[in-house]
Amino acid sequence: MSSTVAELLAQMTVEEKAALCSGADFWNTKAIGRLDIRPVRVSDGPHGLRAEDPSVPPPQSLPAVCFPAGCAAAAGFDTDLVEQMGRALGGEARSAGVDVLLGPAVNIKRSPLCGRNFEYYSEDPYLAGELAVAYIRGVQSRGVGTSIKHFAANNQEYRRLTCSSELDERTLREIYLPAFEAAVRRAKPWTVMCSYNRINGTHASENKHLLTDILRGEWGFEGAVVSDWGAVSDRVAGVRAGLDLEMPACPAHDRQIADAVRAGTLPESELDRAAGRVLELALRAAEHRADPPAEADLDADHDAAAAMAAQCAVLLKNRGVLPLGQDQRVAYIGGFAAAPRYQGGGSSHVNPWRVDSALDAARRRGRSVDYVEGFPADRDQREEAEFLRAVEAAESADAAVIFAGLPDSFESEGYDRRHLRLPEAQNNLIARIAAVQKNTVVVLHTGSPVECPWADDVGAVLCMYLGGEGVGRATDALLYGEADPSGRLPETWPLRLEDTPCYQDFPGNGRTAHYREGVYVGYRWYDARRMPVRWPFGHGLSYTGFVYRDAALSAPVLKEGGQVEVSVTVRNSGARFGHEVVQLYVAGPENAPDRPPQALRRFAKVALQPGAQTTVRFVLTARDLCVFDPEMGDWYADSGEYTIRIGHSSRNVPVALPLRYESLRRRPLTIDENATLGDLLRDERTAPVIRAMLARFGQRLGDPGAGPEATLQALDGTPLRAMVSFGGPEGAAALPGVLAALRGAVPPPAERG
Ligand code: BGC
Repeated sequence: MSSTVAELLAQMTVEEKAALCSGADFWNTKAIGRLDIRPVRVSDGPHGLRAEDPSVPPPQSLPAVCFPAGCAAAAGFDTDLVEQMGRALGGEARSAGVDVLLGPAVNIKRSPLCGRNFEYYSEDPYLAGELAVAYIRGVQSRGVGTSIKHFAANNQEYRRLTCSSELDERTLREIYLPAFEAAVRRAKPWTVMCSYNRINGTHASENKHLLTDILRGEWGFEGAVVSDWGAVSDRVAGVRAGLDLEMPACPAHDRQIADAVRAGTLPESELDRAAGRVLELALRAAEHRADPPAEADLDADHDAAAAMAAQCAVLLKNRGVLPLGQDQRVAYIGGFAAAPRYQGGGSSHVNPWRVDSALDAARRRGRSVDYVEGFPADRDQREEAEFLRAVEAAESADAAVIFAGLPDSFESEGYDRRHLRLPEAQNNLIARIAAVQKNTVVVLHTGSPVECPWADDVGAVLCMYLGGEGVGRATDALLYGEADPSGRLPETWPLRLEDTPCYQDFPGNGRTAHYREGVYVGYRWYDARRMPVRWPFGHGLSYTGFVYRDAALSAPVLKEGGQVEVSVTVRNSGARFGHEVVQLYVAGPENAPDRPPQALRRFAKVALQPGAQTTVRFVLTARDLCVFDPEMGDWYADSGEYTIRIGHSSRNVPVALPLRYESLRRRPLTIDENATLGDLLRDERTAPVIRAMLARFGQRLGDPGAGPEATLQALDGTPLRAMVSFGGPEGAAALPGVLAALRGAVPPPAERG
């Protein structure tokens, strides 16, 4: 706490300090006029500014540029692009007098059904973390704070205010926390927003393990923890746990805090800590407010948003149909051609500055396009005459582009989807058109994967996700080859809902959601089961092609504490300019129990002219090989042989480099009668003692009828005490000596250096 804040606190009453711990209204913190403390103004976020216009009754907000939503931004696989988006968002916030933008939203896509997935980045924690860092750096570079949300394990909308996400510590650390960890450690957001849900029974807003022990104790967070709007259950418990600011205003809770301090059940020092952090935030905001804001140029931001949407689109399939030629007669079908779906519903809903449709863009560019609605964009309805008109138009054109997607009502904050299907009217029309027109292209507008039963029958599929207000212009440029599709899937597109990792546990019974799939989320699940998927994580095509060569490691061995450089040369082997996303996955060590087959650890997006090449370099450290070991309470990797895989997607991996890792630490090994022979044989300190023992008693401990592999497996799980049961009097007599020898080889923790 700074001395200024300490001085301010010293001049405040308990009631004033308690009052500072909740907002003044929906979007402002409280002012304290006599101390010259001004309110901090906050606004949603994350992909556009939703600042309410005080002159118009809610829910009208000021017009602002709607950038690609999180689902699309993540598909860009491009930290520079997200940082640029952050800078633009920060600029708009500054010029509207907003101090803190409520984003980024980085929750992991545990199930494609989560209604809010369109706001979130990925099923992969590393990708989500890198993008969060970039977003925060971008916004905060404009003197506007961020609020990374929703901390934590908030992966469904169903009963989101009460449901408890039940998960083990390893899963929490490896899947649901790393995006927050990366952001807090490297980008230092001004605030962190705690989520609505409970985690293992305790509300996020009262969760000391998360809000204090991990966030501050381990990651060094110095900003303020803000509640999600209405996420507070027990306010006094919240102060104790580390929740500083409740939003929105809640005078009843302010009184509870003051009463608890007066009654001696809440130490005043804990209230000072929370109020002090709100004061720090107010001082920080005031300092930045002192710089005169630049006027935001919304037209320029709109152009930037359209350019970004083009870079975030994912070409999922192309049998040579795309790009279209200027001389082709093309039928545009589907209501989304004229009125694209470009954002989702709920608190992130932006009042857009201007919306581009693909149809307008095509007409402006003089393309030979005929439009038939075919099906409405806002509901699942089949109108026979319109359906037939669409089929006829498609059949008589050179190519048909069907603008499909989920209607607004299918995905929003507040509720989850129940299935992954597009409206039936759309699926029927796509199937019907594909039967009469081989050059059929499907353009998808969706915030999350949908089942594509017609995928094998159409010529091309281009996913625009929810690409923001410039999506129509971007679609036009991509369809006609004026931009190269360079997005990659930030999530697996499954063949069917039943294949998804938490199919049986999502969304739980209303009270609890058991994360039984553990760390096997997204591709970690599909890879472990070698399941076919519609399109894998990291997948995305281009109009050109890329080859990798000369992949190398700077050293064959990585020692804990050291680092290794991985390099690979990427060449554009096609005839067009394009972008490649080089993806690096770590696999191994071989036969490691309970470890996903691979995990994304680095990526880089490079732009290359035809025939050009560049060398991409990544630096890896031990942490990139680690899993979280709950017993050690730390990240840990066993010594062994790992594989560094470099690919175009998680399932198209042309490069595999072996890397030996040498750890300086060992997993804790308890030496007693129940230690297993397998564990003792795996540790090179104890292995010689056990080998000597087996030479004497092995015959008796193994099953004489079993083959060598079965014997090995049985011995692996055999505890030392078996020497007493099965080793005869000689075995029982030898046990104390064996234990003493083992203890000599592995000193107990206190004696270790
Ligand atoms: C959402 C947050 C949002 C807040 C303020 C909540 O319902 O969960 O993401 O920032 O409202 O609008």
